[in-house]
Amino acid sequence: MAVTTQKQDKVDGKSRSKEEHSQPWIHIGGGEIQKFGTVRQFPLGLSRDARLYSCQRLNQVLADTQILHALYKKHHWLMRGHTFYQLHLLLDKHAGEQIALVDEIAERIQTLGGVAVGDPRHVAELTRIPRPPDGCEEVPAMISRLLEAHEMILIDARDAARKAAEQGDDGTNDLLVSNVVRTGETQVWFLAEHLVDTPLGRT
Ligand SMILES: [Fe+2]
Repeated sequence: MAVTTQKQDKVDGKSRSKEEHSQPWIHIGGGEIQKFGTVRQFPLGLSRDARLYSCQRLNQVLADTQILHALYKKHHWLMRGHTFYQLHLLLDKHAGEQIALVDEIAERIQTLGGVAVGDPRHVAELTRIPRPPDGCEEVPAMISRLLEAHEMILIDARDAARKAAEQGDDGTNDLLVSNVVRTGETQVWFLAEHLVDTPLGRT
C-alpha cells in the first residue's frame, strides 16, 4: 500500500497538495488588454478626441523627458574638469526633478484613459532628441547637448499646452505649463550660466 506524505484535497476535480496551493502562478502570458495609442472611456467631462489628442502629445513629451533624464544621468557620471563637483551635483539634482516629471506626465496619460510609454526601447523609437555618442564629449558640448534637448521639449510642451487648453483639457495644460515648462526653463537658466566665458576676477 502506497504511503502518502502530503495531505491531498480536491479543487476543480483535481487533487492538489497543500504545498501546491501556495505556488504562485508564474510565466503568465496573454495578449495586450489595451493598445498603445488608445484611450478608455473615463467620466471626466472631456471628449474622447480631446483625451486621445492630449495622450498623444503627452507621450511625446514623456518620451523626450525620459531621454533628457537619461542624458542628465549620463553627463552626471561623465562630468570632469575643475568644475566637476558642482556640475556633478547640479546635473543629478536636475535628473531628480526630471524623473519626477516623468512620473507626473505618465500618470496624467493614465488619468485620461491612455497608455503611457514606459519601455526604454519604445521610448527610443518615439523620442526626437538626438542620440549622443556612447563615449564622452567635452564639458561645454555636454552642457550644450542638454540645453538643446531642453529647448526641444519646451517648444513642444508649450504648443501641446495651448492646444490641450483649446480642447478644454485644462488639467493637461496646467501640468505642461506649471511643471514641464516652468521646471525646464529654470534648469536651462542654471545650465546656460555655465557656458558664459567670464573671468573669476580682474587683474
Ligand atoms: Fe550619482
